[in-house]
Amino acid sequence: MKASGRFTLDDRLPADYFTTTLRSDVLAGLGAQPRTLPPKWFYDKRGSDLFEQITLLPEYYPTRAEQEILVERAPEIAALTRAVTLVELGSGSSRKTRLLLDALSAEGTLRRYAPLDVSATALAEAGRAVGRDYPGLHVSATVADFETDLVLPPEAGPRLVAFLGSTIGNFDSGQRASFYRTLAGAMSQDDVLLLGADLVKDSETLVRAYDDAAGVTAEFNKNVLHVLNRELCADFEPAAFDHVALWNEHEERVEMHLRSRIAQTARIPALGLSVEFVGGDSVRTELSCKFRRDSLTAELHAAGFMVHHWWTDSSNRFALLLTGRRGHEL
Ligand code: AVJ
Repeated sequence: MKASGRFTLDDRLPADYFTTTLRSDVLAGLGAQPRTLPPKWFYDKRGSDLFEQITLLPEYYPTRAEQEILVERAPEIAALTRAVTLVELGSGSSRKTRLLLDALSAEGTLRRYAPLDVSATALAEAGRAVGRDYPGLHVSATVADFETDLVLPPEAGPRLVAFLGSTIGNFDSGQRASFYRTLAGAMSQDDVLLLGADLVKDSETLVRAYDDAAGVTAEFNKNVLHVLNRELCADFEPAAFDHVALWNEHEERVEMHLRSRIAQTARIPALGLSVEFVGGDSVRTELSCKFRRDSLTAELHAAGFMVHHWWTDSSNRFALLLTGRRGHEL
């Protein structure tokens, strides 16, 4: 634990976390059919910068839609929750965080901001900036992977746990079910979850959001190959792959794929793995599930959550949900 003034950083990741997890993810994902890679490996420094650019694209509406809801509802969220601690899963854009911090500060209840992320650098940067701009606030950051090690920092309650940006959409329904259960188990009766979820809409709008005219999302998608080349000494040729974004109507999710334009073999010597592609073969790199009110409410209910509020932006593109443990009234 590193501490300086009102900022602490608790690193819960094992020292070999990145190499070990990347290796087993790649081995499992590229060694099976259909071939997949988990989206979390997009986010090295370059990938995180590309994602920030995506949030500013005209086609990528989710960030702005969620922001619109937060601007309108943050004071209400603060009044309803009277949270003492704001826990944030995945260090999101600090602009959205600040809307919550401002509202909870105005409410007079907030004492602590507790962001949790796999990136120690992102946490250190974001945490220190927040500490500087909110002089009374304690910042306790935790470096952890909330997919495998979801521990809520043992801070004073009530805690408002924010999971924004529709990152929940990266999980398939089985992964979501176990995520909700773990989270419900970690939350106290008076804690609440603020969940951002992108909604089902026409396929043209959805596909354009993941296949922008400027090609930023294509670069973001191919970045995972650069990560594999650098970290595992692989020899993928990113230029020989096409970025594909498609709407899977049956599963109601956008999928990103990398499709080999030619017959080629990529070698990953660090894993003793050769990956053969014939022209048109692809690797699925991301699921972005889209939600409906009834089914999302039902899956949360099944995991022990009660949806108290469901807010959308003015164009009904995105939802922000305030949910508590079942049996506890807000
Ligand atoms: C950060 C996971 C919510 O799925 O919309 C953006 C990532 N991928 N463009 C999403 C992403 C392609 C984003 N999430």
